[in-house]
Amino acid sequence: MKDTLIIEGGYPLYGQVRVSGAKNAGLVLMVASIMAEGETILDNVPRIRDVEVLIKILEDLGVSTRWNEDGSLSLYSPSGGLRSKTSYELAKQLRASNLFLGALLGRQKEAAVSLPGGCDIGSRPMDLHIKGIQALGAEVSLEHGFIYARAKSPRGGRVYLDFPSVGATENIMMMAALTPGQSIIENVAKEPEIVDLANFLNSMGARIRGAGTDIIKVEGVESLRGGRYAIIPDRIEAGTFMIAAAITGGEVLVENVIPTHLHPISAKLQETGALVRETDKGILVKGIENIAPVDIKTLPYPGFPTDMQSQMVALLCLARGSSVVVENVFENRFQVVDELKRMGARIKVEGHTAVIEGVNGLLGARVKATDLRAGAALILAALAAHGSTVIEEAVHIFRGYENIEDKLRSIGAHVLR
Ligand code: EPU
Repeated sequence: MKDTLIIEGGYPLYGQVRVSGAKNAGLVLMVASIMAEGETILDNVPRIRDVEVLIKILEDLGVSTRWNEDGSLSLYSPSGGLRSKTSYELAKQLRASNLFLGALLGRQKEAAVSLPGGCDIGSRPMDLHIKGIQALGAEVSLEHGFIYARAKSPRGGRVYLDFPSVGATENIMMMAALTPGQSIIENVAKEPEIVDLANFLNSMGARIRGAGTDIIKVEGVESLRGGRYAIIPDRIEAGTFMIAAAITGGEVLVENVIPTHLHPISAKLQETGALVRETDKGILVKGIENIAPVDIKTLPYPGFPTDMQSQMVALLCLARGSSVVVENVFENRFQVVDELKRMGARIKVEGHTAVIEGVNGLLGARVKATDLRAGAALILAALAAHGSTVIEEAVHIFRGYENIEDKLRSIGAHVLR
């Protein structure tokens, strides 16, 4: 039963909570560390399940890892080369395992990655990743559930992404960093995690410009060197705690944030009437009694993040009126709706659109976390609900939120694991 959370709702949250390093930056930076021989030290790596799985994949490839006393993570890549094939058993547990494609191609010109697993939030194809590495000279084949890629004479190239995919941008950027000549990647993802990866690679000696804009230009270099780097704070964890304050009508200072990364979330939260204030210590959020309904469309950054959609739906369940939420990034991200309905929510889903009729209150129930962010949304609903909620399969939540029960407890939530 250790993967079950029990939450007694109805207690407003007060106090301050510190955000951990970003999951989606930490994962890609850990993968990118293999592009340098020797030791890399990463600060702020969150202690979450996805990181534990990634450590196993790295060790399986030949990387030595160690958690240091100061909380940093050391990754040591031997000079003799790494195994270039990820194991199916491990890779199926983690979508981010697909990022070894670009990193291994960059470092040793060949890679075999198992088609990845991860959250069940819709079809997650790899066509854009493949198109990108092919443009840089990789030959690619799909066999027995693996993508095999080899680049005999890789060279810089031009890539236009049909959609600004985060993973494709990361894979192509990593390969390009160690590919001779200039690569130009257009219509790239602009997420803060992309900028963090470019900054990290540049700190290792790469020459990447334009991260955070629509076009990234990379001058390939011959080799990269290890070093020390601190990962950005997790904007989605921050957003989740911001909604926890709003949905319980409490007041929480969310510390260790980069406020500009949170603007798409803060702006929507303010529209619901919640008070959101940037202070020199973090972002202060104060909930109000009458939550206003709002309409949301998820979009690539700087649009409203798909990773905050479920949590926002939980909040809008308690709004005074109806809200329309359109999911434009992943087609299967309304699974949480059926669980929220078990708690008394009134939501209709039609294709990519959810219409949420606010209700006066939610009631605790037995529910199931179907994916990471759905699980986060259920925690939020449970915090505001009358009575107790049992969240099964909370293991999905532990994949992405560090120490969530302790953090919630420290601001007054009644949570048991
Ligand atoms: N897509 C394609 N072809 C491709 C790649 C993507 O059609 O080759 C489509 C996908 O099907 C999807 C859309 O593009 O509809 C967006 O996918 P993207 O590649 O941007 O997402 P990702 O790299 O697989 C990362 C995060 C996700 C986050 C998305 C969007 C990591 C490890 N994962 O996934 O995080 O939702 O970007 O911002 O960085 C989460 O943290 O809960 C999570 C799922």
